[in-house]
Amino acid sequence: MHRARRFLSTITMERVATTGKTTSVANKLKVGPLKKLYKYMTPEAISLAGGLPMDTCFPFKSIDVNLEGGEHFHLENSKTLLMNYTRGDGIAPLKTWVTEHVKQLHNPREGTESCVTVGSSDAWAKILQLVDTEAIMYDNFAYGTAINIAEVMGKKSIGVPFDEHGMIPEQLRQSVQEARAKGITVNLIYMIPVGQNPVGITMPTERKEELYRVCQELDLLIAEDGTQLAIQLVVAVVGSVFLLRVLPLCCRCLLLPTLQPRRCR
Ligand SMILES: Cc1ncc(COP(=O)(O)O)c(C=O)c1O
Repeated sequence: MHRARRFLSTITMERVATTGKTTSVANKLKVGPLKKLYKYMTPEAISLAGGLPMDTCFPFKSIDVNLEGGEHFHLENSKTLLMNYTRGDGIAPLKTWVTEHVKQLHNPREGTESCVTVGSSDAWAKILQLVDTEAIMYDNFAYGTAINIAEVMGKKSIGVPFDEHGMIPEQLRQSVQEARAKGITVNLIYMIPVGQNPVGITMPTERKEELYRVCQELDLLIAEDGTQLAIQLVVAVVGSVFLLRVLPLCCRCLLLPTLQPRRCR
């Protein structure tokens, strides 16, 4: 299998209703006064706020992209090729596209928001800066990079046994209770319910629901790495934990999906 790098990653957040789980960094983050004006921006508006360089300052006039399969894209400076500063919250049409894409795919709850990141690892590092937790729950065999990033940032790793359907909910409950009994703060679980790396398990819906319920009961936030979700969707629509709209409203899922130009041979 040939795998190209990802070209777009996002964090999609259900509105995290749970309080007291954010770090002092997260608590200090405020929306800047100029950014509050974004809601008044239209494509025709001329912004005097950013001090933008003239379009002629950029060296690329146009770029032509030819895809395997014959598709061709012609990108032109300041029309379809965006090199200038844009809004602090990202390129507006891209944000709209991401929001629509997530809506279509995941039918998220009202108030769910997405932001573009450099990659799934970047998204995970951002989450670690924002969620207040001393330890993180993982599958017993978990994606090494996710663990490494968290450990570098001073987080303890706690592995939970799994069977052929994924993490065992009762074992999760027990491990979290044991850690908390030792005085360790545990507020976050990292999971890959679809195409788990490295084991490859895709959780059946019942297991996702059971796990989600245990996370509700233990008040754990869920970081769902959906890096493999896109390729699975080519084969069949496999639900993420995020899709579990059947459960009572309880906003605790941070989804890290990635869109990637992959080709399987
Ligand atoms: C489960 C999982 N998460 C994250 C990544 C890394 O993603 P990124 O390159 O977008 O940081 C990978 C890479 O294969 C992965 O398998």
